Amino acid sequence: MKSQQLIWIQSFVYVILISFCLYLIQTLISPKLLLAHLNNNIILRKKQPTLPLRFRSDGTFKILQVADMHYGNGITTRCRDVLATEFDYCSDLNTTRFLKRMIEAEKPDFVAFTGDNIFGTSASDAAESLLEVFRPVIESGLPWAAVLGNHDQESTMTREELMSFISLMDYSVSQPNPLAGDTREHRRNDIDGFGNYNLQVFGTFGSPLANSSVLNLYFLDSGDRAIVDGIRTYGWIKESQLVWLRGVSKQLQGQNQDCDQLFGTSSHVVPPSLAFFHIPIPEIRAGPLESIVGEYQEYAACSSVNSGVLQTLVSMGDVKAVFIGHDHTNDFCGYLKGIWFCYGGGFGYHGYGRAGKPRRARVVLMELEKGDKEWMGVERIKTWKRYDDEKLSKVDEQVLWDIRSSR
Ligand SMILES: *[C@@H]1O[C@H](CO)[C@@H](O)[C@H](O)[C@H]1NC(C)=O
Ligand SMILES: *[C@@H]1O[C@H](CO)[C@@H](O)[C@H](O)[C@H]1NC(C)=O
Repeated sequence: MKSQQLIWIQSFVYVILISFCLYLIQTLISPKLLLAHLNNNIILRKKQPTLPLRFRSDGTFKILQVADMHYGNGITTRCRDVLATEFDYCSDLNTTRFLKRMIEAEKPDFVAFTGDNIFGTSASDAAESLLEVFRPVIESGLPWAAVLGNHDQESTMTREELMSFISLMDYSVSQPNPLAGDTREHRRNDIDGFGNYNLQVFGTFGSPLANSSVLNLYFLDSGDRAIVDGIRTYGWIKESQLVWLRGVSKQLQGQNQDCDQLFGTSSHVVPPSLAFFHIPIPEIRAGPLESIVGEYQEYAACSSVNSGVLQTLVSMGDVKAVFIGHDHTNDFCGYLKGIWFCYGGGFGYHGYGRAGKPRRARVVLMELEKGDKEWMGVERIKTWKRYDDEKLSKVDEQVLWDIRSSR
């Protein structure tokens, strides 16, 4: 009788012990085994920024435009057009440093890269180069978008691959091309190029326009190179892209009329838009520019084909300013038929420039109108540039648009 009791107690202890061992395996050991398993098939999830893009509670939205970073392989890619005394300690890393400094100094809400992000012929692996060149903006956690220039595809990726890759990078809101419908499954394939899309920026939280777009950003692929009538020239924005652009603009202005009816505001103007692409349009070269702010140092290296971009933008009516790159030693804003065309100015150290003249970046600031109590639509668009010198000198500040001059 006594021994039977002992067996029962022993069995009980065994059961407890086995349960405990199973528990330990479950909680301490198996997660590690599982993780080890996962590590062999790394799953990386894209980090998403907070969307939609939105004005801050102080009624501003600030964009940093970065043109022509021309990134190659990093530390081994030497700087071009710097002083002889600067050459020995200058590489792509200086471009990285400048981007970090600009983000720290200006604390933008959004960063727009207007092409030639990498310099294909100096980048032995396009993916590696893209990961390096966009690292500072990704580390900042800011939403960002890019279009392609004429040099990005000269490495190991096609333009289509580049835009897909860029759109999948952390915090990127770039798109390969617009969606065909409401699903993420299909993208339109009737639009030339890669990287045509638009982004809406909403009003301040808690304001009457919190659920409405008050600023629109268009991104366009201006192509790379082409041969026209046997002569080499640069790419241009095609009719299919302009058709898409006009369609989006019309749709946005339609939405806004609905909004007007809702709020009964008859004095309302169409929310302003900005456009971003790489290659300047022929009118910038041909002129006459009605006004120029900033440096005009070289002929605009535009396409020989005029596809009617200016005409389209003028007829749409919502685009107030266009931001371009391509010509590194031009950093001016020029006024053409009611629209400002602004160069970002060469940013990257491996792109050509002028020795002794700092690399630079452009900032665009939108300010909302203060209603009786709350923030309303955009009142003013301003811009300035900063040099990559010791103090990040601020230059050429100007107003690009003011609602009062358009009412
Ligand atoms: C490039 O960066 C190095 C190291 O940070 C610095 O010493 C050098 O002055 C920079 N060169 C230029 C041209 O900015
Ligand atoms: C915006 O949408 C949110 C959520 O649907 C709602 O709570 C809020 O009242 C809306 N604001 C305006 C101004 O329509």
